[in-house]
Amino acid sequence: MKIRKAVIPAAGFGTRFLPATKAVPKEMLPIIDKPTIQYIVEEAVAAGIEDLLIITSRGKDALVNHFDKAFELESVLEHDGKEEMLAAARGVSDKINVHFIRQQEQKGLGHAVLYAKSFIGNEPFAVMLGDDVVVSDKPCIGQLMEQYDNCGTTVLGVQKVGMEHVSKYGIVDCEKVDGRLYELRGMVEKPKREDAPSDIAVLGRYVITPAIFNCLEKTPKGAGGEIQLTDALVMLAQKEKMYAYNFEGKRYDIGSKQGFLQATVDFALARPDLKDEFSDYIKSIVNTI
Ligand code: G1P
Repeated sequence: MKIRKAVIPAAGFGTRFLPATKAVPKEMLPIIDKPTIQYIVEEAVAAGIEDLLIITSRGKDALVNHFDKAFELESVLEHDGKEEMLAAARGVSDKINVHFIRQQEQKGLGHAVLYAKSFIGNEPFAVMLGDDVVVSDKPCIGQLMEQYDNCGTTVLGVQKVGMEHVSKYGIVDCEKVDGRLYELRGMVEKPKREDAPSDIAVLGRYVITPAIFNCLEKTPKGAGGEIQLTDALVMLAQKEKMYAYNFEGKRYDIGSKQGFLQATVDFALARPDLKDEFSDYIKSIVNTI
């Protein structure tokens, strides 16, 4: 079955970026001039996703406005013949159907994904987390969708993170099947280094079968007192085969300040309109650090 729908959970408080996130949703913080969530939505568009559900919460109306038509602004830019700005203002809004639902209480990632149950219905779907931005030739979620086409069951996007970082992620216990594909044996959310089955982490991209909703409904609070998607996936893996795919691409953890800064610098150096002046600047300060 073709993957047509994706879910982006975006209900968190964004406390790591206070005070910026007091009045502005963290997903609206820009990397250069584009809100981080737009990079994720563009990845979904590039992979052929048709319908997207963004799970928001109170105080995040800017997200809804961002994917709406900015009618007055667009007519002024159109009138003035400012084509480039017009395209930037239009963004991706006319390339994908964006739907919204509000999570009433923040009880964890698993709880947020459960809000997508009636939107998804009985088909496999993608989950894309906004804290992970991936730069790759083929869209990261598209790589997982391709794997889904072959194996017809849940596929988690993973990469090695190094043992020193395992306590930040969902860590998989898996066996290599072929090339970049692994069969999943188990998974644990944010383990201590000594308890981690590997250093292979799930990095914010999933293609999941709809049987997950039944599991999510039965999932008790887990790590951090939250209802974890990882725990529901472990339950699902007992019923269906599950795979992990070591996706190609450079992934930035933009939920951390270091990752956000790295993405900003790399993205600027990759932009034809910015790179010359910006790389001259970087070179000029390198020896002063
Ligand atoms: C979430 C997931 C975790 C995953 C991570 C990827 O954690 O619960 O399994 O490895 O995203 O970035 P969070 O970063 O929301 O705490």
